[in-house]
Amino acid sequence: MSEQATSGKPLGLASEITSGESFSMPKGPEANRRNWMIACGGAATVAGAAVAVPFLGSMAPSDRAKSAGAPVEVDISDIPLGGVKIVEWRGKPVWIVRRTPEQLESLKAVESQLADPGSNRKDIPIPDYAKNQTRSIKPEVLVTVGICTHLGCSPVSKFEKGAASGIANDWQGGFFCPCHGSSFDMAGRVFANKPAPDNLEVPRHMYLSDTRLVIGKDQKGEA
Ligand code: FES
Repeated sequence: MSEQATSGKPLGLASEITSGESFSMPKGPEANRRNWMIACGGAATVAGAAVAVPFLGSMAPSDRAKSAGAPVEVDISDIPLGGVKIVEWRGKPVWIVRRTPEQLESLKAVESQLADPGSNRKDIPIPDYAKNQTRSIKPEVLVTVGICTHLGCSPVSKFEKGAASGIANDWQGGFFCPCHGSSFDMAGRVFANKPAPDNLEVPRHMYLSDTRLVIGKDQKGEA
């Protein structure tokens, strides 16, 4: 598994980020909707080449304003199978994961262990086009917000199958939040009996072409 943390080409603005950084959450309705608390120290690990650039603190005011809501355009052509690209949208890390056939298979295997396999809970509405087993438009490409729905830590990727500290022996791969032990499958669906009440958020998004997508906007308009 390789990961990278880069930004997409911004329609508004996207900062390049590396997981492991703290996030300053936006103020306003988005922040009020859910009292995210980031910076629990559990952000996603980055194993591949990662480019660290200054984060929100260095943005010019106009850019900061843009980042509060503007959609972000992303080139996904460079994400390898099993790889992750992380972009910033509205101050949140958005993970774009190109899943392998084996990772997609794992979604079926874990379904009976999940809290909300059909993404029917209403607290974090999911776009209709992601209300399926893969929670995505294209089965192989997951677009999800990398913020735990418990108290807002950023989970780590645990894509390798098998036992590891804090997760089940029959682990099929997914995401793990070390803050309080919530785990999510390769579609960001939370396992049952974990502190996190909901699946990971899937933001509005749409494809401009096979290799470019926009986060924060779809055919119905901006999020
Ligand atoms: S913040 Fe993720 S389990 Fe508590």
